[in-house]
Amino acid sequence: MKKERILSGIRATSKLHIGNYLGALKQFVEIQNNGEAQCYFFIADLHALTTPFEPKELRKHTLEVVAEYIAAGLDPKKSVIFLQNQVHEHSELAWVFECITPLGELERMTQFKDKAQQHKTNINAGLLCYPALMSADILLYKPNKVPVGDDQTQHIELSRIIARKFNKQFGQVFPEPKNYLLKPLRIMSLADPTKKMSKSDPKSCLFIDDEPNTIREKIKKAVTATDGTGKSAGAENLLGLLAHFGSHAHIEHFNDMQQMGTLKFSELKEALATDIAEHFAEFREKKKELLARPEYLAEVLGEGARKAREVARETLREVKEKIGLL
Ligand code: TYM
Repeated sequence: MKKERILSGIRATSKLHIGNYLGALKQFVEIQNNGEAQCYFFIADLHALTTPFEPKELRKHTLEVVAEYIAAGLDPKKSVIFLQNQVHEHSELAWVFECITPLGELERMTQFKDKAQQHKTNINAGLLCYPALMSADILLYKPNKVPVGDDQTQHIELSRIIARKFNKQFGQVFPEPKNYLLKPLRIMSLADPTKKMSKSDPKSCLFIDDEPNTIREKIKKAVTATDGTGKSAGAENLLGLLAHFGSHAHIEHFNDMQQMGTLKFSELKEALATDIAEHFAEFREKKKELLARPEYLAEVLGEGARKAREVARETLREVKEKIGLL
């Protein structure tokens, strides 16, 4: 039986935070390790150009994300790991998709509206066309499923719309990709738990390589204030993180305290910081070791791009044939 194909990517705009880890990277590693799928995981360096960036920082973050993929458990022998910009077919197919996607479909994307609001002086065409490039990233590999966090569900839906439109207009090329989780995850900001944790607001983020002291400081400052109904979105977020990273004893203890109404946020924060620091201890060491070996990372990426191109080239050939490009 043919193996399922799974594909996903993460932008190279900064190192990864705990939302990226739980919403994406952790699932990548689980899918890879269950051995039932062909896995393609890339770093979306071209998407990183859609918001303000510094070339030196972009290069640094790209290598950091590669090191983080591997330190978290992605294995270049089991998964194809590559940079989006090193497989030119992504940009070429994106152009084709931009030419068949109505402007209105791009303008209605929540992420475009949010980012346009955040970067009022830099609303570039790339920001608007972001989902067309993302659809190209996906559809080039004809994956069965795409593991992403909740905030990307609308973009995956648009890639299905684009696939359908292309197939109807020019003939069947693309299967429609599915979300990986039935209920994708959303980890909230530590500073404002009504917003998602986001790389564009580093204060709100717990980075997965943060040192134990930094983790403790950030969690200590996390907002846990109750709203008018006596609920605390911040406490829910922290308990959610405890469910993922906490020791069994801590999870039971704090859930009981919450049910009895005796939850002490200071104790919860201390326990959570200890558990998260412990969870990523090995990861932090591995990441440092990998960053000290840039030639190894370059080798992984070279090999990954070569393997990715084998698939991407074939899909682009089909597309060109269907649309009449010689
Ligand atoms: P990026 O870098 O913004 O996010 C990478 C992944 O992390 C997830 N994520 C979260 N999950 C839970 N809670 C959060 N607070 C949180 N913040 C981020 C995102 O949903 C995503 O899965 N556009 C993609 C990158 C991309 C891509 C693709 C993904 C480009 N092309 C093709 C899949 C397929 C993105 O959001 O990156």
